[in-house]
Amino acid sequence: MNNKLLKSTLGTLAIAAAMTVGSSAVFAGADLDKKLVINGETEIVTRTAAPAHLDGALDEIFSGWIFRKDETQTAQMDDFDNPGMIFVDIAQDAWNKVDGSEGKSCASCHGAAEESMAGVKATYPKWNEAAGEVRSIDMEVNNCRTTRMGADAWKLTGGKMTAMNALITLQSRGMPVNVAIDGPAQSMWERGKEMYYTKTGQLEMSCANCHEDNYDLHIRADHLSQGQTNGFPVYRLKNAKLNGVHARFKGCVRDTRAQTYKPGSEDFLALELYVASRGNGLSVEGPSIRN
Ligand code: HEC
Ligand code: HEC
Repeated sequence: MNNKLLKSTLGTLAIAAAMTVGSSAVFAGADLDKKLVINGETEIVTRTAAPAHLDGALDEIFSGWIFRKDETQTAQMDDFDNPGMIFVDIAQDAWNKVDGSEGKSCASCHGAAEESMAGVKATYPKWNEAAGEVRSIDMEVNNCRTTRMGADAWKLTGGKMTAMNALITLQSRGMPVNVAIDGPAQSMWERGKEMYYTKTGQLEMSCANCHEDNYDLHIRADHLSQGQTNGFPVYRLKNAKLNGVHARFKGCVRDTRAQTYKPGSEDFLALELYVASRGNGLSVEGPSIRN
């Protein structure tokens, strides 16, 4: 076992132990009222009433930003201090660049991302009627690349995709997350919900054990949030790059020492939809900064 894995496993064991025997865990008491305004103009809802489907589980929902250290929170208030924005610039170049056999760029069809992509992130993942399936933003991007541009699909957890996701996300910043959980998306949503509450791995822990039952618990270097996805993609100080939702899920599942699902799999798509719906009402915040 390498050092990093050992450290992360010990951290998880400590959380598990703290939760069962009440040992060294401390409720840090994050400042739940702290306000996030980006660039002095975009107000971000980081605390609001939980959506109706969480009745009995949570009264209020909070962005992960609330639980970060002061320095990290402050860096997110100004895009010049947000390293995630570098990747948005890279994606802007890709947006305008012709690629593939059809001689097209994203801009050829979509024009300026600022206009065509405004509001898109807030409703994803969502049901795509023509395709007859629930799709993530990343799936839509790859569909455009392969079927409309004659270009290669991007790797779902790769840098190009995560950067493009950040460019698209930015156009919805400040808008409320509003993913549909009924209609044709409902069965995927139910599947994600089931995953969220299922205990997995040697540690026999579910997502809910940490992010619903114990958020705001401070233990070792970690300060547990509600595990919301409104801030994604996130620039993590830990790996100094932008991270997508599936990569984060993978890390959390692995920390319970479970067999992990594959990023890009239908399982993680279902979980992505369900977790996004737990944040309905918070603002789209990405690209954000986390540890
Ligand atoms: C040949 C034209 C064409 C090109 C090139 C193209 N797209 Fe699309 N794209 C479409 C059409 C048509 C749709 C479906 C209708 C719509 O939502 O506008 C779509 C849908 C999308 C959606 C879903 C939008 C929504 O409202 O749900 C995203 C995201 C997207 N494209 C991103 C991209 C990106 C990123 C690129 C470049 C890598 C790209 N597209 C290239 C035509 C194109
Ligand atoms: C053993 C406890 C534990 C379990 C179980 C766990 N996580 Fe996490 N998770 C963490 C910690 C610690 C972090 C980093 C601090 C934070 O943001 O909560 C984190 C972070 C996250 C984040 C990032 C939040 C943000 O704002 O950046 C998401 C999303 C997430 N988890 C989702 C999940 C999902 C979905 C599951 C179930 C598959 C899960 N987690 C299971 C401990 C856990």
